[in-house]
Amino acid sequence: MSTFDLILPTVIKVFQRRQALIEPIKPLIINRDLNGRVRLIANWQWESSQVLQMVCVELHKQLGAHAYAPEHAVLFEEDVMTLLEGVTSFVPEGLEQIYVIDRLATEGDWANISPVSTGVPRIVFYSIKGGVGRSSALAVTAWSLAQSGKKVMVLDLDLESPGLSSALLPQERMPQYGITDWLVEDLVDNSDAVFESMYAFSDLSHDGEIIVIPAHGGDAGEYISKLGRVWMPKRCEGNTPEPWSKRLVHLLEELETRHRPDVVLIDSRSGIDEIASSCVTDLGAAWVLLFAIDGEQTFSGYDIVFQYWLQSDKARDIRERLRLVGAMIPETNASTYFQGLKERSWDLFSSKLYDEIAAGDVVTDEWSFDLDDEAAPHYPLTIRWHRGFAALSSMHTKLQSVDPQEVQMVFGNFIDALKSMISQSEGTHE
Ligand SMILES: Nc1ncnc2c1ncn2[C@@H]1O[C@H](COP(=O)(O)OP(=O)(O)OP(=O)(O)O)[C@@H](O)[C@H]1O
Ligand SMILES: [Mg+2]
Repeated sequence: MSTFDLILPTVIKVFQRRQALIEPIKPLIINRDLNGRVRLIANWQWESSQVLQMVCVELHKQLGAHAYAPEHAVLFEEDVMTLLEGVTSFVPEGLEQIYVIDRLATEGDWANISPVSTGVPRIVFYSIKGGVGRSSALAVTAWSLAQSGKKVMVLDLDLESPGLSSALLPQERMPQYGITDWLVEDLVDNSDAVFESMYAFSDLSHDGEIIVIPAHGGDAGEYISKLGRVWMPKRCEGNTPEPWSKRLVHLLEELETRHRPDVVLIDSRSGIDEIASSCVTDLGAAWVLLFAIDGEQTFSGYDIVFQYWLQSDKARDIRERLRLVGAMIPETNASTYFQGLKERSWDLFSSKLYDEIAAGDVVTDEWSFDLDDEAAPHYPLTIRWHRGFAALSSMHTKLQSVDPQEVQMVFGNFIDALKSMISQSEGTHE
């Protein structure tokens, strides 16, 4: 019996087998609806097409519950191409002019990848699993960049379990509002009421500045009620609804215009929900740092996301912005651990994102890297586990009197790489 995972491979096979017959009735849309049922969308003129009928019968036979009965399996439209506007679609390999639209019940859409924003570099700190030292690394990076004179803006977008702001601000400096308040006020066109009271300067910076945009204010208020509304699309009269990810981009643009930072660091939610996918794919990040500890759980999680990009033909839109980070490299057997991590990472990147290079091929402009290429996206930047940063009751207190040499020892490799990534991005934007 067919199940969900067989839908796309089966549909693609059916279409590939009938390529020649289908050719004249293209373009076509394969629509996988919210319930996971497949229907085709074709132009009106093919209403009595025998070929379409035959394909529908075959799909129904093979997909069972995941297809519509043949007599209801095609929707006819005046111009199918107009249906592709504003939705995420992809063309399966080898099937030109046949588009797949995958309707999801949540806003989270890993296949909708925005191009790199043209302003200051935005860097997203992401991890598939939580608790890997992502927020700590972001706070220390902000501190270090500010020490070298940069104006850094940091956003705590880990809305469901915020923690970054307290590492950079003592409680008495917390602003009145945060990102959650802005997103909720924006729904009723009232974001101006909070915009000037949702940021604070960290007291940790001396030469530069750290502007902190927290998830919520000093008093979180009715946080659960607000959080349950942040991802709502905004319904404006007469206009198409504005998805929450677009609203978030507006906020980011407004904050950048207001504060004019040199760089923006974003603490993403971990996992694969809609907040995480927005941080990774919608914010126009110049770089997405993928925090990882070695192990099955981390890599099977990344494998799911990479496989989705590969299948939906979006890998090329994002792969050059990714960089793996080896988080909390253990003190003992560090080098063996690093080798294992690097190999796992290479397996993942080379099977999903790098171009395939057949034996004997001369490499020209293929996007592919050797296992030991230190500049490769799979080659882990490293952050070492260090007792001085473990189980801290207050990261803020730690950073107030942190020893720069200790920072260099634990985070040096990571921060130095980030600095050169930032100057690379600045170069491309000048
Ligand atoms: N380099 C490090 N060495 C040792 N311990 C660390 C290091 N970095 C962070 N920690 C500790 O690990 C724990 C988790 O860190 P942190 O909160 O930064 O992780 P996170 O990935 O942001 O977690 P979450 O997913 O919950 O937001 C904290 O107790 C922190 O003090
Ligand atoms: Mg965190």
